[in-house]
Amino acid sequence: RLREGLDIPEWFSYPEVVNELRKSYPPRNRQGFTVFFTGLSGSGKSTIANALRVKLMEMINRPVTLLDGDIVRKNLSSELGFSKEHRNINVLRIGFVASEITKNGGVAICAPIAPYTQTRAEVREMIEPVGGFLEVHVSTPLEECERRDRKGLYAKARQGLIKEFTGISDPYEAPQNPELEIDTLDYSPDQATQQIVLKLEAMGLIG
Ligand code: PPS
Repeated sequence: RLREGLDIPEWFSYPEVVNELRKSYPPRNRQGFTVFFTGLSGSGKSTIANALRVKLMEMINRPVTLLDGDIVRKNLSSELGFSKEHRNINVLRIGFVASEITKNGGVAICAPIAPYTQTRAEVREMIEPVGGFLEVHVSTPLEECERRDRKGLYAKARQGLIKEFTGISDPYEAPQNPELEIDTLDYSPDQATQQIVLKLEAMGLIG
């Protein structure tokens, strides 16, 4: 059946139908996808995200864009602080950029703290209709992140010099159903990368 007066099928206007078609065409391994890391400061998100970027560029002949927390904050979100509202704006901006990349067949790797469940769900909702989405919780325990304290921020947060610091004086809502959970006490960056690559293969997104 054609839509009245127009030479296009009626089903074409139904977003659900279009979304269903998008899931099967182009084939899964040629669709874009986003790997979305979440975890405490110093949990190892950036290290694994960088290793994954290198690995994916070797494996698939497609551009890979890394949206790292620190880098996004310097460039895309430089006016924002760390209140709940500002963190949510920041994470949704990252989600928007990743969804555009994914929609156009690219690969986005995001690595913000993204402490709020609701905001992460909104990012998933933006991206899943246009390509693959893999949430990776880097679940290195707070004590270990604080012991490493690579940037010296935990010490400052304990002294009260940094306010609203995630895990110390601000919440982190751990994901309940991430596609993957990686504790860097158990996995090296290379092993973590391998886990993610296996998962992407199992989901049909690469290979
Ligand atoms: S968020 O919550 O997703 O918007 O955070 P994100 O954009 O990833 O920024 C986290 C990096 O900012 C530094 N930093 C802080 N983190 C948490 N809480 C407070 N108050 C804070 N102030 C500065 C910190 O270096 C984080 O970097 P990573 O790479 O996560 O350690």
